[in-house]
Amino acid sequence: MEAVVLAAGKSTRMKSKTSKIFHKIANRPVIFYVIQALENYKIHIVANNENHETLKEMFPNCQIHIQKEQKGTGDALKSAIDHIQENAFIVVNGDTPLIKKEDLQKARLFFESKNLDCLVLVAKLKNPYGYGRIVKDSNGLRIVEEKDATEEIKKINEINSGIYIFKTEFVKKSINDIENNNKSNEYYITNLVKMTNNIDTIEVDKENILGINTRKELSNVGKIMQQRIIDKFDDVTFIDPNSIYIDYDVSIGSDCIIYPNVSLRGKTKIGNNCTIDIGSVIEDSVLKDNVKIKPYSVIEESLIEKNAQIGPFAHLRPLSTIGEEVKIGNFVEVKKSVLKKGTKASHLTYIGDAELGEDVNVGCGTITCNYDGYQKHKTIIGDRVFIGSDVQLVAPVEVEHDSLIAAGTTVTKHVEPFSLVLSRVPQVNKPGWVKRYREYMEKKLNQKKK
Ligand code: UD1
Ligand code: CA
Repeated sequence: MEAVVLAAGKSTRMKSKTSKIFHKIANRPVIFYVIQALENYKIHIVANNENHETLKEMFPNCQIHIQKEQKGTGDALKSAIDHIQENAFIVVNGDTPLIKKEDLQKARLFFESKNLDCLVLVAKLKNPYGYGRIVKDSNGLRIVEEKDATEEIKKINEINSGIYIFKTEFVKKSINDIENNNKSNEYYITNLVKMTNNIDTIEVDKENILGINTRKELSNVGKIMQQRIIDKFDDVTFIDPNSIYIDYDVSIGSDCIIYPNVSLRGKTKIGNNCTIDIGSVIEDSVLKDNVKIKPYSVIEESLIEKNAQIGPFAHLRPLSTIGEEVKIGNFVEVKKSVLKKGTKASHLTYIGDAELGEDVNVGCGTITCNYDGYQKHKTIIGDRVFIGSDVQLVAPVEVEHDSLIAAGTTVTKHVEPFSLVLSRVPQVNKPGWVKRYREYMEKKLNQKKK
């Protein structure tokens, strides 16, 4: 069967420069989910002058037809109807991303078994405000929009989902008879239902047909989508699923534990047995098995090998590779660097544009001075180097394996293997100095008072 997705609307109620179908839910555009539910259909998208190029790029396998002026959903269908070849087709509003393949399949079987001209997918909503109401009376079936409804009709809670199956021949014959004698002066697709008696409705789950016209509806639908994404991971423990945010393309291995307020974004891939503690944000990153992310860590575009530990309050910036069993502690920032197996940077450190070998110890307060105001430079540290606290490594610089950098050293020159490196001003002790200083100061201040 063929499908027509209506996506040319002006999105006025969204109050946005961006077409509502491109607003994102779990990091994918609203319309992506509609197209996905129509996976097995030959898809036509009705686009407008502004969004057709983006749609073509996003969905190269769909046919795009342009509705030049936004004169209503009936007029939108007109832009596609001449391109329909099969006997029947389905129409879906581009703003109903929760629709499921199963609903469409069920409707299709029903439509075919009854040989209808038109089947309308409907739902019963507690609050039907804004939707077209299904009116069934002696004149047959009609759909009345909120704007055009009487108080009596507004009370009807059976609504039009904006999803229909039509016999092609019926639409081709009737589409030019759609009138725009309504409050909006638009040509409504829903006018078609008045033009045949060979019509029926089929009820689908109310959650699946929710449309998006406003920001509020976008976030409501987003919440339901989050629930669906989280339900997919039935071998993962979510301590507080309502506070967790996971993008559509994220994958999570089994037996992971995700604490509250965690955000897993983009194409993040998490291995088995990982723990992601409270408040952490992980974006476009790969975590192998048994990785532990302690509270409030931020990880971007990085790779973390198995058994590594990050945080609390750590920041891995793009292009960092954290080796097996590496420990990154609190207030450590790593950028575009490789840390090999077993290396530790436990406190208050900046590692940028660096390569650290295996089992390196990075002392508290160590800084790679990678920027000279014009360019970034590399720091290379060999295996088993011990870096004491408060060391500055002025890049470009290399410290070869098994060296020991004493606390407080500023490294500016190449270091050979097994070297001790020291750059300290010799210590001077002056016994009794403080006593003398205090006596002197007190005397001075007392004189002033007098
Ligand atoms: C529509 C239905 C309403 C139904 C609701 C379900 C009509 C007249 N009303 O109302 O009965 O309950 O959907 O969500 O159809 N579009 C175009 N060209 C246009 C106008 C709209 O392509 O000229 C597209 C929009 O991009 C959107 C879809 O058609 O994807 C529906 O339009 P929208 O304005 O959202 O219709 P609703 O008022 O929600
Ligand atoms: Ca809508």
